[in-house]
Formats: sequence, C-alpha cells, structure tokens
Amino acid sequence: MNLTCVILAAGKGTRMKSDKAKVLHDVLFKPLLQYPVKLATELGCQKIIAVIGHQENKVRNRFSNQNIIFASQKEQLGTGHAVQCALDSLDENDEHILITCGDVPLLEMNTIHRLYDAYSDNNAVASVLTATVDDPTNYGRIVKDEGGNFLRIVEQKDADSATKMIAEINAGTYIVRRDFLESALDRVKNENAQGEYYLTDIISIAVADGEKVATHCIDDFSQIMGVNTRQHLADANKAKQHEVNKRLMLSGVTIVDPDTAYIEDGVIIEHDVTIYPDVTITGTTSIGSATTIHNGCIIRDSEIGPEVNMQPYCLVEKSAIEGSSVIGPFARLRPEAVLKKGAKVGNFVEIKKSVIGAGAKVNHLTYIGDATIGNEVNIGAGTITCNYDGIAKHKTVIEDYSFIGSNTAIVAPVTIKRGAIIGAGAVITKDVPEGTVAVERSTQRHYKRKND
Ligand code: UD1
Ligand code: CA
Repeated sequence: MNLTCVILAAGKGTRMKSDKAKVLHDVLFKPLLQYPVKLATELGCQKIIAVIGHQENKVRNRFSNQNIIFASQKEQLGTGHAVQCALDSLDENDEHILITCGDVPLLEMNTIHRLYDAYSDNNAVASVLTATVDDPTNYGRIVKDEGGNFLRIVEQKDADSATKMIAEINAGTYIVRRDFLESALDRVKNENAQGEYYLTDIISIAVADGEKVATHCIDDFSQIMGVNTRQHLADANKAKQHEVNKRLMLSGVTIVDPDTAYIEDGVIIEHDVTIYPDVTITGTTSIGSATTIHNGCIIRDSEIGPEVNMQPYCLVEKSAIEGSSVIGPFARLRPEAVLKKGAKVGNFVEIKKSVIGAGAKVNHLTYIGDATIGNEVNIGAGTITCNYDGIAKHKTVIEDYSFIGSNTAIVAPVTIKRGAIIGAGAVITKDVPEGTVAVERSTQRHYKRKND
C-alpha cells in the first residue's frame, strides 16, 4: 500500500460560529487537522497534501514545522474543485490517492487498510468509505443497483425522496487512482443544487467509463464523525480523551476518574502512576513510575521522576522534578524550575528558572527566581529572592546546608555560602561567608505605655 494523502481543509466551518478556521480548533490539545495528518503519517503516506483556503496563512504557520505540502484553494467551489487544487502537487509516482477531510479526527488506520483492500481486490479506480446510519440526513447517499453495483453518490440537496431513504452514506474518505482522478475531475460540472464541483461525481463518471468502483462500509459511525459544530468538537474531545486514557490504563496507570483526566496523546506515563480527578497533562511530558498526581494539577512540557508526590492544585510548566520529591498543594513551577531528588516545595511557593537541591525544603509562601539552591538547604516561610532590580535579572546562590530564616529578602546578585544561617527578617544584600550566622534587623526596643 503506497498512498499519497490529500486532506480537504479549505472550508470555513460556518457552523462553528468562529473567527478561527475550523481545522485550527483543538481536540484534546491538538488542532483538528493534526489528526488526519497523523493518520496519513502512520499509514506511511509518501506525501501529505492539505488543501487550505480559509485563514490559509494561520493554518500554514501552525503546521510549518511538519512535513505537509499546502495547496491553496482561494474560493471554495466544492470538494471536486478542492481536489483539483491539489493535483499540481502530484506526479507520476503518486499512484493511489487517499482523499480525506480535515475535520474527521476519529478515523482509524485499520479502516483505511480495509478501504484499500476493497480498492485493490476489486481492481477499482475508486473506493469509497461508507456507513449505514439511522439518520442519513445531510450526507451523500450511496446509490447501488439491484445487483449491489455501486452507481453514484447523490447529495442530500439533489436527492429525490426515494434516494433520501437510502441509509448508506458517503463518509467523505476515498482511495482513487491518480490517472483516473485527473481525467474525471476535468469532467466534473457544477450543474447541481449547490452549484458546486462535487468530488462525488467521479463515481458516476467511472461507471460511465466502464471502470470498477468499490465501497467499504463500516458500522462504527463514531469513526467517521465530522466536526461541524462546537458540540461535535466536545464529542470528539471526549472520544479522544477516552482513547488515550484507556491506553494508559491498559499500560498500568491508575486513572481514578477517566472522565476528568485530560492527557494529551504522546505524554509518557509509566506504570503505577496514580492520577486523581481534574488533572491536565500536556505537551512533551513524562512521568516516572509510582508517582502520584493529586486533584487539580496542571502539568505541561515537564519531566517528572518516579515516586514524586504532587499534592493538589499545582501548576508545573517546562520544569523537571526528580524522583521522590514532594510538591504542593498550590505550588507553581514556572519554566526551568528543577527540583533535585527528594526536594520539597510546599504551598504558595513559586519557583522560576532555579535549581532546588536534593533534599532541600522550600515549604511555605516563597518566591525563588534565578537561583541555585544547594542540597539540604532549608528556606523559611516568606523568603523572597529579589532577582529583579527594575532593569535586569540577577542570580542568587545558596550553598548546601544553609538555613534561611523566615521572611528573608535576598537581594541578588548575592551568594550565601555553605552552611550559613540567616536570622529571620533579614534583608541580605552582601555575600554571607561560609558557616556564619547573618543577622540583619533593627534592635527590638520597649517603651513604657502612657497611662492616659
Ligand atoms: C461531503 C460529501 C458528502 C459526504 C460528506 C461527508 C461532496 C460533494 N459531498 O459533503 O457526500 O457525505 O462530505 O462528510 O463531496 N472543502 C474544501 N473545499 C471546498 C469544499 C469543501 O476544502 O470547496 C472541504 C471542507 O473543508 C471539508 C470537506 O471538504 O473538510 C468536506 O466538505 P463539506 O462542505 O463538509 O462537504 P459536505 O457538503 O458536507
Ligand atoms: Ca460536512
């Protein structure tokens, strides 16, 4: 099976009621168009051509780092015209063309294999994916003769009442021989109820040419579901969410409530991880074995080690947490936060672009930015690294075994050497030598109360 894929994605998606092109709307954190592209990639398609029109540049930009050829369809004159726009990107090496839609995210690879079987077993010039449905309204109907020979596809708007009774519908995915496709599209006219060039007319053209056409009918309607409204978008999101969660559970991950765990396809989660409700995990994230992610955590593009305990409501972005660390509840790790093995970051702590050493504790109400914190350091409640002087960012270094008293302001650039102790309430502006106790506070005084 050596396919070239053409994805039709130029339509506006009027029923989305959106300023954004339909194929840029996300389904489980990835734009709709990503799904047919992924399918084509997994099928080993030699070329992937996406026909785009509405918000063309935004679509191109979003997918610029991927191996996709874009063909533009300036005016949406119909699906036949859309495929015509892709023909320039084809050559004689593209023999078998898989045509599918940008807004059908749930199609499975196996289905395309069966569609290809129908195409090659029958020596057909075209094979159409179909489904028998309870309500065929708005779909093209598959018209066959008494002998079951496929004759043509009739659109809803062109159908007479007898044709409207047909329950087998066109799913909008096809495999077509390129030479036939080119010759047939030349002959497609727009003399129909919608004044459009219908791709579907190539079937009756093939029949008139005496060529063979085939269908592959599937029962699983959900696979061919197209996203046309926000309701469909939510349905597709739910279906993808369950697909990903099911796979993870089969691989040994406990997901307490798969309805409320939102995990992007591609996230790596090892066995015996437990994920509590309302957790979102996206991007290039990996989570080591036996880690627990409690309610309400959001993790993006981060590397989480094994046996980490993430307490409720943490936000972790572009960060790394080594094994056996404990974070939260209510902790925020901003980009480039690194927690070494067994570190503890507690409630209402924000960490940015900093390393927290092995076994170090930053337990309460603290901001650590642009800092390197050594091993076994203890940072008291309310400590702030004052990393910004209004012009530039500066670094704080706190070496191993130091102890920072509560409510300390550390004005960077500054280094607190190994094993130093800072008395509570200090404003540290100078380096603190190794093994010393730094106290910076005014003397407490007592005045007699007036007796009035
Ligand atoms: C099409 C089929 C119909 C089938 C249905 C399945 C035709 C004539 N009809 O109908 O038989 O049951 O899909 O969903 O093909 N597009 C373009 N350029 C255009 C027109 C459409 O790129 O000029 C793209 C759309 O963005 C969409 C896809 O083609 O991704 C299908 O277009 P749509 O308008 O949804 O087709 P239907 O009329 O619903
Ligand atoms: Ca449609």
